[in-house]
Amino acid sequence: MIDTSRYPIDQPESQQYRELIEACRAAMDDLGCARLQGFVLPEAVADMAAELAPLPTFNRSHVLSAWGDPPGDHLPADHIHRRTFPEDTHVLAGDQLADTGLRRLYESDHLRSFLADALSIPELHRFADPFQDLNVVQIRDGGLHAWHYDLSDFVITVLLQKPDLGGEFEFAPFIRGEVIPGVTGGRDGRVWDERYDDVEQLFADRWPGRQTLDLDAGDLVMFNGLRSMHRVRAVYGSTNRMVGVLSYDTKPGFTSTDAINARLYGPRCEAAIREGR
Ligand SMILES: [Fe+2]
Repeated sequence: MIDTSRYPIDQPESQQYRELIEACRAAMDDLGCARLQGFVLPEAVADMAAELAPLPTFNRSHVLSAWGDPPGDHLPADHIHRRTFPEDTHVLAGDQLADTGLRRLYESDHLRSFLADALSIPELHRFADPFQDLNVVQIRDGGLHAWHYDLSDFVITVLLQKPDLGGEFEFAPFIRGEVIPGVTGGRDGRVWDERYDDVEQLFADRWPGRQTLDLDAGDLVMFNGLRSMHRVRAVYGSTNRMVGVLSYDTKPGFTSTDAINARLYGPRCEAAIREGR
């Protein structure tokens, strides 16, 4: 299902593989993002999308700050950390994706070791969490995924279906500074140099470094969303935007909690946990 003539992930000894890894590493260093166009072959990606389209999704509809967590009390009432944006997506959890083409892609060990090489990580492991390991995020007519940061250093996505209009991926490479040494707090214990002036420019569509990717079905994207604020622009039309999210960790055995999974995936997931499925 992978275009191995262009992306020989099954031939790690080849010159072409080494060049591919170098190109991915350079793109990750420059922009925190590497796009591999046409990584999944057109017929395979169309089959994946057709197989996933009828599955029941959970709607995540929120209004939230780009930072997720509330700002400190010291920030003024009109500070951009307090600004909120709407978000409207529909998700499938990993337990719904058994025996799908997308899961066969996720379970490829060639893919796993290729991604580790491209991200300069000694080894990557698939999540052990049955809900979070592999997800599909759909955005329907009028929906969008608002500006935010991710909680992990990298995310791997494959666009499965391109919408009729809109749905571009936009990101602000390394707009967030480094972690401030010796200061603790925040969602994961770290406090970042938030460069609020730059983010204010970004929200006003005036930040010069903004990148826009108009992805096609089959494109694989490696992305560092921890320091690069990003969003998916609004989707229009009857064709849903559909993306596969492949989760890996640098250590084996990652699992989340029942409470977090129930919140992320809704009542169907809650029932599955209750019934021990
Ligand atoms: Fe994200």
